[in-house]
Parts: sequence; structure tokens; C-alpha cells
Amino acid sequence: MTATHICVCLWLSTIAIILHAVFFTLADQSDNYIIHMDVLAMPKAFSTQHNWYLSTLASVLNNPHLVTANLNSSPSKLIYTYTDVMNGFSAHLTPSQLEALKTSPGYISSFRDLPVKPDTTHSPQFLGLNPKVGAWPASNYGSDIIIGLVDTGVWPESESFRDQGMSEIPSRWKGRCESGTQFNSSLCNKKLIGARSFNKGLLAENRNVTIAVNSTRDMDGHGTHTSTTAAGSHVGGASYFGYAIGSAIGVAPKARVAMYKALWEFGAYASDVIAAIDSAITDGVDVISLSLGFDDVALYEDPIAIATFAAIERGIFVSTSAGNKGPSLATLHNGTPWVITVAAGTLDREFHGTLTLCNNNNGVRLHGLSLYPGNFSASHNFPMVFMGTCDNLKKLIRVRNKFVVCEEKNGTLGDQVDILDRAKVLGGVFISDSPEVTFYFQTRFPSIFINPEKGKIVKDYIMKNSNPKASMAFNMTVLGTKPAPSVDSYSSRGPSQSCPFVLKPDVMAPGTLILAAWPQKVPATGLESKSLFSNFNLLSGTSMSCPHVAGVAALLKEAHRDWSPAAIRSAIITTSDILDNTLGLIKDIGDDYKSASPLALGTGHVNPNRALDPGLVYDAGTEDYVNLLCALNFTQRNISIITRSSSNNCSNPSLDLNYPSFIAFFDGGGVTSSSSSTRDKSKTVVREFKRTVTNVGEGKTTYEASITAVKGFRVYVIPNKLVFKEKKQKLSYKLRIEGPEMIKENVSFGYLVWKDLKYVVRSPIVVTTHVQLARAN
Ligand SMILES: *[C@@H]1O[C@H](CO)[C@@H](O)[C@H](O)[C@H]1NC(C)=O
Ligand SMILES: *[C@@H]1O[C@H](CO)[C@@H](O)[C@H](O)[C@H]1NC(C)=O
Ligand SMILES: *[C@@H]1O[C@H](CO)[C@@H](O)[C@H](O)[C@H]1NC(C)=O
Ligand SMILES: *[C@@H]1O[C@H](CO)[C@@H](O)[C@H](O)[C@H]1NC(C)=O
Ligand SMILES: *[C@@H]1O[C@H](CO)[C@@H](O)[C@H](O)[C@H]1NC(C)=O
Ligand SMILES: *[C@@H]1O[C@H](CO)[C@@H](O)[C@H](O)[C@H]1NC(C)=O
Ligand SMILES: *[C@@H]1O[C@H](CO)[C@@H](O)[C@H](O)[C@H]1NC(C)=O
Ligand SMILES: *[C@@H]1O[C@H](CO)[C@@H](O)[C@H](O)[C@H]1NC(C)=O
Ligand SMILES: *[C@@H]1O[C@H](CO)[C@@H](O)[C@H](O)[C@H]1NC(C)=O
Ligand SMILES: *[C@@H]1O[C@H](CO)[C@@H](O)[C@H](O)[C@H]1NC(C)=O
Repeated sequence: MTATHICVCLWLSTIAIILHAVFFTLADQSDNYIIHMDVLAMPKAFSTQHNWYLSTLASVLNNPHLVTANLNSSPSKLIYTYTDVMNGFSAHLTPSQLEALKTSPGYISSFRDLPVKPDTTHSPQFLGLNPKVGAWPASNYGSDIIIGLVDTGVWPESESFRDQGMSEIPSRWKGRCESGTQFNSSLCNKKLIGARSFNKGLLAENRNVTIAVNSTRDMDGHGTHTSTTAAGSHVGGASYFGYAIGSAIGVAPKARVAMYKALWEFGAYASDVIAAIDSAITDGVDVISLSLGFDDVALYEDPIAIATFAAIERGIFVSTSAGNKGPSLATLHNGTPWVITVAAGTLDREFHGTLTLCNNNNGVRLHGLSLYPGNFSASHNFPMVFMGTCDNLKKLIRVRNKFVVCEEKNGTLGDQVDILDRAKVLGGVFISDSPEVTFYFQTRFPSIFINPEKGKIVKDYIMKNSNPKASMAFNMTVLGTKPAPSVDSYSSRGPSQSCPFVLKPDVMAPGTLILAAWPQKVPATGLESKSLFSNFNLLSGTSMSCPHVAGVAALLKEAHRDWSPAAIRSAIITTSDILDNTLGLIKDIGDDYKSASPLALGTGHVNPNRALDPGLVYDAGTEDYVNLLCALNFTQRNISIITRSSSNNCSNPSLDLNYPSFIAFFDGGGVTSSSSSTRDKSKTVVREFKRTVTNVGEGKTTYEASITAVKGFRVYVIPNKLVFKEKKQKLSYKLRIEGPEMIKENVSFGYLVWKDLKYVVRSPIVVTTHVQLARAN
């Protein structure tokens, strides 16, 4: 817990309350369960599923054999009946009640409710940047699109929710703006059109929690930030205490926002998240943005995978965050074939402080990372001392009235920041080249983070002077830093554990140091003695990259009303950028700035303008996803949990989903999509994929295939020319990969590019060993 020192109070209390809740849950024994039911078994006597579930529960609760030792336990209750996302309900049950329920007619399966956390790495102490969304023309882009977010709520008074100049709310909208504590429904407008909250699951699980602000008002900040990142109105002069000063604007500045609050400062549960998605679908949102996820769950146990299948069936696009558990492989969540999974990268902007060494009035000026928000006298020189690895609090307290210089060893940066904070030093200089500086460089005391090269200059200066002194200055925003974008270290990596046969993540979007709206009354950061407030905050995480892609999807959806979610996803994937601003391949900060593999980056960095006009798309519908589920050898029961249909057609199982990317396992141990694959170390292994592309560009055109080599493997495309006669025409091809079995853990990758005179349609090809490689990491 090296980072808790910079958590503001809100987050510390959050942790305390979650621990509290866990304790009570253990003592209590009963738990929330999500129960899947077969509606075909519903007796005709029941008019609605809700009544059937109530009756089923009542018979379980009234069973005299189920009286437990805990006489005080109140009767267990139905929490939610789900209507659109699944057939079933959630309920708070004792173990024996659950066992009894399992024998009820129509019971399919049940899963214990799961706690969930938003995908912001270390939320409020992170600082971020204004994304390049200002480049978007101030047009009507996205004005007919409704983006639903499941998050911590909204701060409706934020300027980013102003609705000036917006057209009327689309008439098909069926959602609501619920009144509640400190939330009058009149606060909604033509920008913020929906606000609902879900906490029955949380309250059933933690009966002692008192929710003081029982409404969609955001008491955390995360939801205000994500929703305005996707669709915030233009606000001029936004900044974080002077840093990143400029205009703040959402990716789809005229799209509508509907907030479904299911993440509470006291904790959050799957049962509430499912209810939120259920309502979003019923209300009529067009895009759902989910900056949260569940780790290590099978597709048929993953609340998000299950709930979003229903969304996809209705043509709703779903954007999800990959998670913040990088840089190890196979750390990703939401690796679900029917959603888009978003990785996080950096922007070309840095925040600096200046350290000026007082070298006989001939000061050497050194820049380093800093986001210190306070006012600090830049003209004063203070004594400076080098304290090595800064691991002795007593010694540090003795030098607290100086600038203390620390040198990081072996990942101790967080501890060093912590100990200087506790010693209450005048200022800190940290020498470090850790990729995790982003996690720590917002401190409550003046500080500057410099690399070892500059660190040597500082150390030499201190050593050679009897009375070393320096000054510090802050509030410097540097633009055009290189290389950018890069995949950030924390962004979770593929392959997907729940479905390794579909390459994940899909794309990268800005996630590090993103500037977006923040609640007026939630501290944005803190100084030694006080909390600081700001209408904008800088946050990092895949929580921040996910709503960028939701915003892009809103724009595409408005421009192409007839495109399926898979077609929109394909457009975003195949048009993304693989080069950074040095014109080299995008780098991976978590892998020493080597070229990022698609397991970190996806295909590339999202490029909204190109995605509007992709040339070709790889489409897929629910039957394709069912074929995939069948090929995963799921039972009919497992599949019906996801599809809500008791008869799933498994006559055509295939792992070879029509997806705009390729992942092939060459360790022999895995399954492949190829009928002609062989398994023999001395022989060449072959993997084959079939794809169908739809021409959405010019009518008559010819595309030619080119391959960027996959090191160690031969890749063929058959045919390597596609001649389209008209728009909407579909043509198919095969991709064939040949090579030796991989013996060691390894990742090799290249690209297939289809080109005509105008379009470039790119798909990544990853050759790797099977998932065990990832688990071993
Ligand atoms: C609720 O809190 C009261 C008093 O604080 C305590 O006695 C009780 O055990 C708690 N109940 C549960 C279910 O946690
Ligand atoms: C909500 O706002 C409206 C209009 O501003 C006002 O008339 C009404 O009294 C408010 N309701 C509550 C409960 O504050
Ligand atoms: C929260 O408000 C809803 C209605 O807005 C109400 O049904 C529920 O009982 C309230 N919960 C608490 C804990 O006050
Ligand atoms: C920070 O710098 C910006 C740009 O130079 C300036 O406009 C702003 O007033 C400064 N803010 C503070 C708090 O010093
Ligand atoms: C810094 O000084 C400005 C101008 O006096 C003031 O508005 C601001 O609140 C100060 N910032 C902090 C963090 O004290
Ligand atoms: C730091 O790592 C080096 C080598 O990786 C090791 O020799 C050294 O003992 C470590 N130091 C600490 C303080 O853990
Ligand atoms: C499914 O089962 C078949 C037959 O047993 C097997 O060949 C195949 O590898 C399995 N697929 C997966 C994804 O486990
Ligand atoms: C199907 O689901 C059950 C749990 O309901 C699980 O035990 C089983 O392993 C699943 N089947 C497959 C092939 O994953
Ligand atoms: C199942 O799908 C196949 C095509 O993949 C179709 O020929 C067959 O009729 C379908 N069966 C049922 C029962 O729908
Ligand atoms: C990984 O694969 C590449 C290309 O096949 C090969 O050059 C490299 O030696 C391999 N690395 C390991 C550790 O096996």
C-alpha cells in the first residue's frame, strides 16, 4: 500500500468502509446471489417473470426446514428482477436457502455477487491532460446519440453539462432523471438527460451502510470525469491549478449523457451493475461506456459479458476498459468478443517543475515531472541535502527544513514519497527512471522528479559545494513531448483469459493524465494541511481511455445509423494509428519503450476521423458469437446464461470469429481455428483463418493485401486481391500462418493491410504460445 499516502481522505475512508463491510459479511453468512432462470419453465399462472421469482423465493423462504440458528436474521428478499439483460433475479440468501432454491423448477445456475472497482489506477492523486479532442469541429457530431455510463454519478452543475445550443432530446428516449438527496430532477437538461441510481445490492450485502446522499449525485468524481470525457460540452479556460490550461471538451460534445450510478463510495456490486445496464437498455441508450470490470471470471460468470450481450442484440455499442494490471501479460479483463476493449496510452504533454541549482549565481536549471498545485516562492533559495534511498524517517525529520534529494532503488519510489510526506520536508527531489512515476508524482509537498542523468548533476553539485542551495518553480505544461502516444505501463495486457481466441485489447485511447470535469465539492487533491478543490481534475487509467472510445462510437453511430456494433468496432480498430509522433511504431512504457505488441496496444491508437470512413468492415452478429461460444465447448446451460435462449444452435461451432485481428497459438497445446493444423515439433505448423469483409467505401474498387512480416513465420493471404463491384458487397479471404512450434514463451507479431487507392485497412497478427505463458508471468 505504498500509494495510500497521497490518497485524499475520501479514498482512505472508502477502503476502511469496504473492509468493514467484508467483516460483517463474513459474520453474517448470507450473501447476494445472481440467479439465472429458464423462462420456459415458468408456469402459465404467472403474468410476469417478477411474480414468478417472488413466488419461487417465497416458497424457499417459508420452508420450515430452513430455520437457521440466526433467529435475528430478517427475511431474505428479492433485490432485483432483471428484464432485458438476463432471465433471472438477485436475492440475499443464506447458504441453505440457496441450496433449496437450486431445486426449484426453472433454476439454471447462480453466482455469488461480486464486488467491483472502477478502473482508475489511483484515482484522485493522478493528474491528466486535455485530450486532443479540441481538434474536433464544433459540429453537430453526436447530437442524436445517447451515451449511457455505469459509474459513480454526475455533478450536474458542472459547466461541462451545459446544454446551450443543443437540440431537443430524441423522442425515443424513455429514461428518467430521478430526484433524490441533493438531486432535483430539474437539474437534468438537454445534455444530461438521464440520472438513476442503483444500490439495493450494496444495501442487501451491507445492511449497516447508511447512504447519506442517496441519489445520482457524484460524491467521488470518477463518473463526472468519465461522462464529460465522452460527451462533455465545450468549456474554455479549464485547468488543474494552472496545469493543462485550455479548453475542455468531450469526444462527442453534443451527444447526450445518461448516468446510471452503481458505484458507491461504500463499495459496488455486480447485482447493481447488472440492474444499471438493464435499465440503460430499456431506456434506449445507443452507446454504453463501462470503466470497470471483473477479473478472472469465465464469460458465463462475467456480469458484464452477460449483460452486454443483450445490449449488442439491440444494436447498442459497448465500450469497456481493459483494466490497470499491466504490464504483465494476460492481466486484462473485459476480454469479451462482443464489446470493444480499450487500452490506455499517454498524450504528448508533460507537467514540469524547474529545479535551479544556486551555483554562484550561475544557476543550472533542471526540468522534471511535477504537478505540485500550491503557491511556492520560486525566487527563494533553500539548502539542499542528498539522503540516498531516503529510508530513515528520524534522519529525514532532522533535515526537514531543506530540499531533500532521494535516489530510487528497486521500486521504492512510493515508499520514498511516503516517508518525505511524513517527515514534512520543505521539498523533495526524486531521482528515478521508474515507469511508475505517473503513480507518485502528485505529492502534497513541493517536489520534482528527475531522471538519473540529471540526478548525477544534482548529486555532483551537492558533493562539491559546502553549502548547496536551490530553488523550485512549478506550473509548467510542456506540449509536443516525444514519443507519444505510448502504451502506459499500468494498462492491462492480453491475451484475454476468458476468450483467448479473440485478440484483446482492441485499441488504445488516451488514458494518462486526462483533464475532465470534477465535482466542485469533492477534493481534487490536497496539500499538507488542506484539501484543494477544482472544477477539473487530471486522472489516469483505462477508466479514462474507455469513454474516449465511447465518444468515438457515438460519432460513428450518428454518421452511419445502419452499422452494427461490430461494424463500428471494426472501423475503429482497422483505422487506428500504429505510428507515434516520432514516426516510429508506438512504444510500450511497460517494456522499456520497445515497440508495443498488439497484446498491449491492440491494433493502434484510436483515430476518429479515419474511423468515420474505413473502406472495409468486418461484421459479426449474435449468431457468430453463439458459434464461438459453442466452440469453446460451453454447455447449453452455460450458453443460455449469456444468450437468454434455451435453444442455442450449435450446429456450426467456430472459434474463427469474423474479427478484424488475428491471434494464433503455436505452442501446440492450444486449440486452433484450423482444420489443417498439425502437431509435431519437427514439422511446420499451420493455422488458418477465414474472414469476410464488407465494402463500405467506394462502390467499384480493388484492394490488395500486403503483409508486414511476423518474425519467424510465413503468412499468406488467399486471394491477395479483392475486386469489389459495388458498395455493401461482401468478399472472403483466408489468412494462413506457417512456422515451427514455439518452444519458449514468446510473442511475434505483424500486420495484414488491405489497400486500395484511398483506404488502408489494417489488422494485427499475433503469434504466441498458449495462455499458460501468461499465467506463468
Ligand atoms: C450493525 O451495527 C450494529 C451496531 O453498530 C451491530 O451491533 C450489528 O451487529 C451490525 N449488523 C450487521 C448486520 O452488520
Ligand atoms: C426542484 O426544482 C424545481 C424548479 O427549480 C422547484 O420548483 C422544486 O421545488 C424543486 N424540488 C425540490 C424537492 O427541491
Ligand atoms: C434511496 O432512494 C430510493 C428512491 O429514490 C428509495 O427507494 C430508497 O429506499 C432509498 N434508500 C435509502 C437507503 O435511503
Ligand atoms: C500557471 O501558468 C499559466 C500559464 O502560464 C498561467 O496562466 C496561470 O495563471 C498559472 N497558474 C498558477 C496557479 O500559477
Ligand atoms: C495561490 O495564490 C492564488 C492567488 O493568490 C490563490 O487564488 C490560490 O488559491 C493559491 N493557491 C493555493 C493552493 O493556495
Ligand atoms: C536491489 O536490487 C539489486 C539487484 O537487483 C540487489 O542486489 C539489491 O540487494 C537490492 N537492494 C534492495 C535494497 O533490495
Ligand atoms: C472442445 O472439445 C473438442 C473435442 O473434445 C476439442 O478438440 C477442442 O480442443 C475443445 N475446444 C476448446 C476450446 O477447448
Ligand atoms: C458450464 O458451467 C458450469 C457452472 O455452471 C461449469 O462448472 C462448467 O465448467 C461450464 N462448462 C464449461 C465448458 O466451461
Ligand atoms: C442451425 O444453423 C444452421 C446453419 O448454421 C441451419 O442450417 C439450421 O437450420 C439451424 N438449426 C436450427 C434448429 O435453427
Ligand atoms: C522469439 O521468437 C523470435 C522469432 O521467432 C526468435 O527470434 C526469438 O529468439 C524467440 N525468443 C525466445 C525467447 O524464444
